[in-house]
Amino acid sequence: MAKGFYVSKLVAFVAIFFAIAAVATIIALAVVYSNEKSNKDSESGGTTSETITTRTTSSFQPGTGSPAFGPIWDRYRLGKHLVPDHYDIDLRPVLTKNDHGLYVFHGESKAHFTCKVIIEHVVIHSRKLNYTEEPILTDADGNTISAKKHFLAEKTSYLVLPLNELLQPGKKYTLHTKFVGELADDLAGFYRSEYVEDGETKIIATTQMQATAARKAFPCFDEPTLKATFSITLRHKLDYVALSNMNVLNVTTEQWQNEPWQITKFEKSPKMSTYLVAFVVSQFKADGDQLIKIWGRKKAIEDENQGEYALNVTLPILEFFETYYNAPYPLPKSDQVAIPDFSAGAMENWGLIIYRETALLYDNRESSINNKERVLEVISHELAHQWFGNLVTIRWWNDLWLNEGFASYVEYLGADHAEPTWNIKDLTVPYDTHRVMAVDALTSSHPLTSKEEDVNTPAEISAFFDSITYSKGAAVIRMLSSFLTEELFVEGLRTYLSQFAYNNTVYTDLWNHLQAAIDKNNFQLENKIEDIMNTWILQMGFPVITIDTTRGLVQQQHFLLDPKAVVTQPSQFNYTWIVPITYITRTSLQNHFWLKQHSDVHTPFDLSGQGNNWLLANINVTGYYRVNYDDGNWDRLLQQLNTDLSAIPVINRAQIIDDAFNLARAEIINTTRALETTRFLTKEVEYMPWQAALNSLSYFTQMFDRTEVYGPMKAYMKQQVTPLFDYFKNKTNDWNIRPATLQDQYSEINAVSMACSYGIRECGELATRLFNLWKNSNVNGIHPNLRSAIYCEAIARGGEEEWNFALEQYRNTTNAQEADKLRAGLACSKEPWILNRLLEFSLDSTIIRKQDTVSTITNVVNNVIGQNLAWDFVRANWGKIYQQFGGSSSFGNLITGVTKRFSTEFELYQLKQFKEDNQDIGFGTAIRTLDQAIERTEANARWVNQNKAIVQEWFEAAVKP
Ligand SMILES: *[C@@H]1O[C@H](CO)[C@@H](O)[C@H](O)[C@H]1NC(C)=O
Ligand SMILES: *[C@@H]1O[C@H](CO)[C@@H](O)[C@H](O)[C@H]1NC(C)=O
Ligand SMILES: *[C@@H]1O[C@H](CO)[C@@H](O)[C@H](O)[C@H]1NC(C)=O
Ligand SMILES: *[C@@H]1O[C@H](CO)[C@@H](O)[C@H](O)[C@H]1NC(C)=O
Ligand SMILES: [Zn+2]
Repeated sequence: MAKGFYVSKLVAFVAIFFAIAAVATIIALAVVYSNEKSNKDSESGGTTSETITTRTTSSFQPGTGSPAFGPIWDRYRLGKHLVPDHYDIDLRPVLTKNDHGLYVFHGESKAHFTCKVIIEHVVIHSRKLNYTEEPILTDADGNTISAKKHFLAEKTSYLVLPLNELLQPGKKYTLHTKFVGELADDLAGFYRSEYVEDGETKIIATTQMQATAARKAFPCFDEPTLKATFSITLRHKLDYVALSNMNVLNVTTEQWQNEPWQITKFEKSPKMSTYLVAFVVSQFKADGDQLIKIWGRKKAIEDENQGEYALNVTLPILEFFETYYNAPYPLPKSDQVAIPDFSAGAMENWGLIIYRETALLYDNRESSINNKERVLEVISHELAHQWFGNLVTIRWWNDLWLNEGFASYVEYLGADHAEPTWNIKDLTVPYDTHRVMAVDALTSSHPLTSKEEDVNTPAEISAFFDSITYSKGAAVIRMLSSFLTEELFVEGLRTYLSQFAYNNTVYTDLWNHLQAAIDKNNFQLENKIEDIMNTWILQMGFPVITIDTTRGLVQQQHFLLDPKAVVTQPSQFNYTWIVPITYITRTSLQNHFWLKQHSDVHTPFDLSGQGNNWLLANINVTGYYRVNYDDGNWDRLLQQLNTDLSAIPVINRAQIIDDAFNLARAEIINTTRALETTRFLTKEVEYMPWQAALNSLSYFTQMFDRTEVYGPMKAYMKQQVTPLFDYFKNKTNDWNIRPATLQDQYSEINAVSMACSYGIRECGELATRLFNLWKNSNVNGIHPNLRSAIYCEAIARGGEEEWNFALEQYRNTTNAQEADKLRAGLACSKEPWILNRLLEFSLDSTIIRKQDTVSTITNVVNNVIGQNLAWDFVRANWGKIYQQFGGSSSFGNLITGVTKRFSTEFELYQLKQFKEDNQDIGFGTAIRTLDQAIERTEANARWVNQNKAIVQEWFEAAVKP
């Protein structure tokens, strides 16, 4: 799956400092949401299972479920008693409500399996399926095996069929079932999605099986190692089209309830895991050819050609991966479908990838370059999985990091192949490495992998879909590929894929293949791959490397953002890592050194007596660690940046800022040292260093934008941004053409949005002029890249008239990306009464969709004038808000959002009071974030106390008269 929160990365960034604790939650949001729902549902069930003991207890693999004794169906793990060979699945989704007001699907299935141990019942996953006839078990000759009445073990999601005779090892059996399930709008299993086209509501039946929802569509042995082949049949009305993993085999028609229906049969699939099964019945249209098709709403595909970009890049990316993996694309076709409102970003179902619209569709007129990059990356990510993940699959979810981390790393390689001018590979540093370090530096973090036996329930599984899994996974795999060289990495990868095709692995299988490639090529590496990587995978966190260039001394230490934090999780490596340190000096080319203990001396790190020579470590941030130096080296590095920044690679210019601000938060270096790293920005025009500064300073903005520190801070930032603004004004011929490269376009966007928000008059005038042109002509001539910044500034400067115009545009647009930009702009008004109106609208679902309520309120908080209004609004409406959203997992974001600026005793008091006052109503999923908010307010208060005077003085001194 692609990250659920692939939301605008540019926007996401700004939130990083105050959302640290919540980041993991946000990322897993969609998955958690669907899981929460299903958990709730299964808890409300409660069929009492008859007490049937089993002879197979002892043969059950120990440690794979609980309890250790008792019937198999009390455990979450199936074991391998019955191993599936093939499924025949026949489903009829009925896209109109039945007499009970439900949308349902009717199903019929034959699960063919081989018995491995003597057993007296069939236990197969099944969730929320009603069996309309008694399941029948037959042997290979078609004889029925005598059985008792079936029952459902709801907590563990099983259909259990107790037998009157024993099944024999080595023999094959078939379980015949007929069932009906609800086609709910719960985004899991076989579910329903709706959209309006030409005034008519259209219904789609679609799937999302990962991780544990295939059992909600048909009874199956729903674990990734239990691979089988699938023959799927879908029944639907004639004006619908059916898609599945494979090509259509043949089509016939039938009469059903006095109407003609089409029966679409699909070819038999290769052996695959249940979580990759997919099918879609819709009235979608496609763009493409025999091999590759992009599907979506008719308007998007046929009228607006929004599938063209996806179509353009898919073939090059597929060809790239065929070469990279040295293996042909494993399936006869690739369909990619855009579903309105899909839970995750996308899902890599084999041959039938399903996306949310914003991750697949691109509209030249309405979408920004950031929207386009996201489409490219998500496509590349999902295509990478077609081999790594689908052809070769992890044995169990505890190794999800390998699957997702790998795809999150190679997605940049595939994307780079399709858009070679974009320099997209570098972006993994801000998007993955730096972003996840913010989360991984907390004591609440966790190691990449855990023991298989510790991961059993659907909730435990879905907890793995977090930023550690995706982004730290990507960062450590990038580090591995970088110290091994990409050639060796690919060599090991290729033999791994060919050995385990159609099979399952654990991560050490990949290490073994890489080690074999190392040995075969006599590559010099003192430690085994496994020993190096274990230090990064089996313990949470990462080190800060401190290099003392006065003595050549190098040390490592577990990096924690909060200096007062206490680590309670033990680590077998005592929080030391085997660290590949790459470095340059002013006078020497790149070299490397392995730090294997807590500290070591490396003579080339000793620069004493070398004048203004400096040392810079972690070149291009290929290593997953932060770096600190002695004061002298910091001085010389900053001196270099201020005189000639080109001597320092651009990624490292971002790194210096990001590391320095984080080291300062951790009280390892002074805050003023961190601030010093922003001085060179007057000469910087590249995206990454500026973005690092923006992220780093967003915390300062939150802490100080209501205090006297903000005046000097704003003056300083205006001074720093002015050259950047002028540079792009010139380069874009007064904002009329876009810069050529992706990162320059991002830098231009930053230039405009910072210039406007730090008060460069020309920027404000530009915004008002462009916005009024649109308002007066009704033709939006603002380039999509600049819309967010322009809307916000123009509405901030404007009054009721501008705001009403934007609201009207918001209500009329049919493009979700455009609607988001406008909705964010509405929150930029400086008029308290207008902001209050927006807050009221946020609870009126005829104006703002429910899914956007929380982000609308937090948008208002991003506006300093909205801070208290939003806090008052939330307190005044807590009962209503809680009632509507208390169960959704994004609910915590609301608390995190409205309290992000809190840093005073009085705010702490209010927060505690709020908690007390609403005990009777409750806080739902936000209870943990509420406690975190209290903790964070205390930490903020400490930080402001320590830093306020120093920071104010620094900003005042740094502004040149
Ligand atoms: C399945 O049975 C339960 C209990 O009778 C019922 O509430 C539910 O609506 C049924 N589901 C479908 C899809 O018919
Ligand atoms: C469709 O294909 C299946 C499997 O080969 C076959 O059994 C069936 O007879 C075919 N139906 C038609 C109408 O060709
Ligand atoms: C797709 O490729 C064609 C041919 O190169 C090009 O003309 C078109 O602009 C591309 N479309 C998009 C959206 O990039
Ligand atoms: C799958 O891998 C396992 C473990 O390496 C091996 O024992 C088994 O033979 C493989 N199965 C197939 C079908 O290749
Ligand atoms: Zn993925």
